[in-house]
Amino acid sequence: MSKKKTDNRKTGESTKLWGGRFEESTNRAVEAFSASVHFDCELALFDIMQSKAHATMLCECGLINKTELKSILKGLDTIRADIDSGEFVFSPALEDVHMNIESRLAQIAGPAAGKLHTARSRNDQVVTDLKMYIKHAVEKIIGGVRDVQAALVEQARRHESTVMPGYTHLQRAQAVPLGHHLMAYFWMLERDAGRFADCAVRMDTLPLGACALAGSALKTDPGIVARELGFKSIAENSMDAVADRDFLVEYLSACAILMIHLGRSCEEFIIWMSTEFDFVTFPDSLCTGSSIMPQKKNPDVAELIRGRNGRVTGALVSLLTTLKGLPLTYNRDLQEDKEPAFDATKTILTSLEVYALLVRGAAFNTARLAESTADGFLNAVDITDYLVKKGMPFRETHHVVGRLVKRATDAGRRNFNDFTLKDFRAESDKFDEDVFKILDPAKGVKSRRGRGAASPADVRRQIKKAEKILARNK
Ligand code: ARG
Repeated sequence: MSKKKTDNRKTGESTKLWGGRFEESTNRAVEAFSASVHFDCELALFDIMQSKAHATMLCECGLINKTELKSILKGLDTIRADIDSGEFVFSPALEDVHMNIESRLAQIAGPAAGKLHTARSRNDQVVTDLKMYIKHAVEKIIGGVRDVQAALVEQARRHESTVMPGYTHLQRAQAVPLGHHLMAYFWMLERDAGRFADCAVRMDTLPLGACALAGSALKTDPGIVARELGFKSIAENSMDAVADRDFLVEYLSACAILMIHLGRSCEEFIIWMSTEFDFVTFPDSLCTGSSIMPQKKNPDVAELIRGRNGRVTGALVSLLTTLKGLPLTYNRDLQEDKEPAFDATKTILTSLEVYALLVRGAAFNTARLAESTADGFLNAVDITDYLVKKGMPFRETHHVVGRLVKRATDAGRRNFNDFTLKDFRAESDKFDEDVFKILDPAKGVKSRRGRGAASPADVRRQIKKAEKILARNK
């Protein structure tokens, strides 16, 4: 069979950097199927930084001379400028970002470019690029998280004493300060920031130098590359270095958890904005309308954050599934790690940005919050605490207050507001005039003690601590 038969592109083996042993050029469908440059071009700037560091190392180790280094560095800078200005043309025939850049370098820098890939394989190159991308993403995400936390603190400060119903089972449970509810998200996000910071520490190991899987016989020094690129340590095992993607699993787990936190808060914003709740409104600039119902003002931004949980959790599941059962070391399956990683990163960064706008823009309807808190016996537990303080065993107090609730509901009431001392005493003689002091939810929340309790005093304590955390991480 003539090799020309399958030679369905004018280009062909000569354009492939790995084309030496190939007699036929790549099938068009296979080329399109395996190309990754349309998404891994996202790594271009990291790839260039890496190549500059690698070339510097090669020169320091005597594997290329100073003139060669100079023309490689100059060529890479030109490519970078062309990418920045949008002039660089990425070609799918050259498969991926690495080969696109190297091919272009050969055009600009000539024979010296052919030495750049000394003691390097795309296997250690790609995972190094990806680690650089993720380390950079972690910094940006932590910055976004800090801004959201600052927004939550701003609102919590404004509403440290505003009472609202706290819920369990989405049923009104106990009065809480709105600031306390908002600060709950501050602490969730604090753990998120910690998770990102943690995974960045663990991934701070340079894989470059592992080459395809076994390292190199040439006298190289990965320590130089680590120094140039800001990696703390060098991989202990070349096979682990090229096969490892658990740094990405950790990162995507942190992304998924953070996204779930934002989604839970957004779900609350959506419910609170409904006519039924009417707890909050958002500025027109953050809402959207309906194409048919002129009266509508919808919380689409919050819904989209909630909805994008699917993409981010999906990214994590996608990567775990790709890795499951994968033998050492590099397999082309690993090319599938990038799109979920990029998509999750962009989703998280944009979600953080608009979520901060929602938090800052939220206008809480304090009258409606107070009204809802006064309706539905939210002070029932405060009354059991009152009786415990008077020496009654808790289980007994539960029954006493339960009977009081029944009395009230039987009389068609939804709170104890018009109960007299006689009404209270009908169930227990432990009641005195001072019971009226805790009936008002605003007073009830003030009676709470202890660290982390839903009281204005504790909200103030939390805000103080939060401010210190934010100042430390500026
Ligand atoms: N584009 C590839 C990836 O993203 C680069 C590594 C290719 N290595 C190979 N041996 N084919 O994984």
